[in-house]
Amino acid sequence: MSTAAPRDDRSRVAVVTGGGRGIGRGIVEELAAARFSLVVNYRDDLESAAACCRQAESLGSPTAIPIRADVSDLVQGRRLIDETIGQLGRIDLWVNNAGVAPRVRRDLLEVTPESWDHVVGTNLRGPFFLTQSVSGALIRLQEQGLVREPQIVFITSISSTHASINRAEYCVAKAGLSMVAQLFAVALAPRGIRVYEVRPGIIDTDMTRAVHEQYSERIAAGLSPIRRWGTPRDVGRAVAAIASDSLPFSTGEVIHVDGGLHLRTL
Ligand SMILES: NC(=O)c1ccc[n+]([C@@H]2O[C@H](COP(=O)([O-])OP(=O)(O)OC[C@H]3O[C@@H](n4cnc5c(N)ncnc54)[C@H](OP(=O)(O)O)[C@@H]3O)[C@@H](O)[C@H]2O)c1
Repeated sequence: MSTAAPRDDRSRVAVVTGGGRGIGRGIVEELAAARFSLVVNYRDDLESAAACCRQAESLGSPTAIPIRADVSDLVQGRRLIDETIGQLGRIDLWVNNAGVAPRVRRDLLEVTPESWDHVVGTNLRGPFFLTQSVSGALIRLQEQGLVREPQIVFITSISSTHASINRAEYCVAKAGLSMVAQLFAVALAPRGIRVYEVRPGIIDTDMTRAVHEQYSERIAAGLSPIRRWGTPRDVGRAVAAIASDSLPFSTGEVIHVDGGLHLRTL
């Protein structure tokens, strides 16, 4: 492995899929404060992505650019990687954050193939093949001496382990994504590329808007030991901690950001 690779924090580059809104934006803001240059990927909402980039630069990012790509489309995913390297020259941190909830929460016995394909395609199939391509790109960047120990982060969910029978397709996709994180962690460790899973609990974003009232009541009643909603910033701070290179002998690690929701109690 090259020892001549640049270690200048100001020039490190991070890509956050679905970075313009919600949890992705919280991640972008924290990485901006850590002086990463940023690619804010989006699918539909250019306005939010562009505003997020302006804010990132005001927080300390040397440069932040929005790039459109649907992560469920393998060709667009590869273009996202190529455009990032073309415009910013390197990738030090790749954050697989983009994700969707089922458009309609349906009982397990009524899940439709269309909803399955939409959710699994975006939350599991897309990130799997995207990370395959990212891995190849990171290895090439290492071989060129442009990066030394890049990292990959998967944003999964408490739904990786907790069964919600009114959104089975989401739980299946997130459980699968947790295994994807482990697989890439094992495969890439010999090359010095570490992989982490950040597993949020209930976070206050557009995704949870429709169930806000119901979850607020359950949180107040003690659903999670820390009785408050999680924020995008909570998740962003966990990713920034990973990006600070503070976990050099850990890979495949799960970092819960859920106020203790995953803990069993008696
Ligand atoms: N909110 C929670 O309680 C919670 C808990 C655990 C895990 N998570 C996970 O955290 C991640 C972010 O969730 P969130 O709550 O921030 O959701 P959100 O507010 O609905 O934002 C979703 C983001 O993903 C992007 N996106 C969706 N499909 C995409 C695609 N095919 N290609 C590219 N970008 C796409 C959206 O882009 P546009 O802006 O262009 O639409 C948006 O930026 C998801 O993976 C979600 O499963 C959320």
